[in-house]
Amino acid sequence: MIVFEPYFDVYPAAIELAQGVLVPLRLEAPEFRVDEAKLRSLVTERTKLILVNTPHNPTGHLVTVPELGIIAQVAIEHDLTVITDEVYEHLAFDGREHTPIASLPGMFERTLTISSSGKTFSTTGWKIGWFSGPEHLVEAVGTVKQFLTFANGHPFQYGIAAGLQLPDSEFHAIRDRLWRQRDVLVPALEHAGFEVLAADAGYFVSVDVAPLGYDNSYDFCRELPAKAGVAAIPMIPFYTDASGAETLVRFAFCKRVEVLEEAATRLERAFR
Ligand SMILES: Cc1ncc(COP(=O)(O)O)c(C=O)c1O
Repeated sequence: MIVFEPYFDVYPAAIELAQGVLVPLRLEAPEFRVDEAKLRSLVTERTKLILVNTPHNPTGHLVTVPELGIIAQVAIEHDLTVITDEVYEHLAFDGREHTPIASLPGMFERTLTISSSGKTFSTTGWKIGWFSGPEHLVEAVGTVKQFLTFANGHPFQYGIAAGLQLPDSEFHAIRDRLWRQRDVLVPALEHAGFEVLAADAGYFVSVDVAPLGYDNSYDFCRELPAKAGVAAIPMIPFYTDASGAETLVRFAFCKRVEVLEEAATRLERAFR
């Protein structure tokens, strides 16, 4: 199974449970784009799946339509199934639009799309999500889910069902709020001397801490709370082999503006 790397840290465990083999497709900083030659070089006769995640956690990259087109072409040529995790689908900034890969020609019948209410409605603990796609894939997931969690948070489902019927303007307002939050944190990181890599969509901004003199993100993230009263996480655990990405760090901006402004002040004080 080909998986974007860095990856959401739940994926390796889930793939292992399913007795799959995770084959990382490295998205290289600073742009974290899907590279066609690299993707093609990973496909073998044992490849069954490509796991797409856009908007992407942990990098904050929104996979573009040309990148999705490359993935679609490779999937169709090699008769692969695509699983796509689009839980940040409503949260793209700067006029960018999220495109579901299932909407590309020839892709619906080979794509299982997964999404969730957690990020859009800030209800991450509720664990209400959904999957959609052609009948054979939906039925396969339903069969497994029946014996894993069976049902969860049923009363929350009514709340989320009501939320999903809100007009588009509400979804835009949610996006715009998060966009403003990003626009507090990102300039502060830049002023403090970090190299900001991506924050196109979702909850996260990835940065390189090498310009601040660090050669390892663990050291930086361990020191940060005492040094600045701010916390971030190293991206090393999101890689199978993090060589070349040892200095990447993920900050989250899914916080109140006042909290982010305070973080901005502290970061600038600590690093300028
Ligand atoms: C890429 C990605 N997929 C799925 C999830 C799970 O979302 P939830 O449990 O809120 O539905 C997360 C949460 O961090 C995520 O970042």
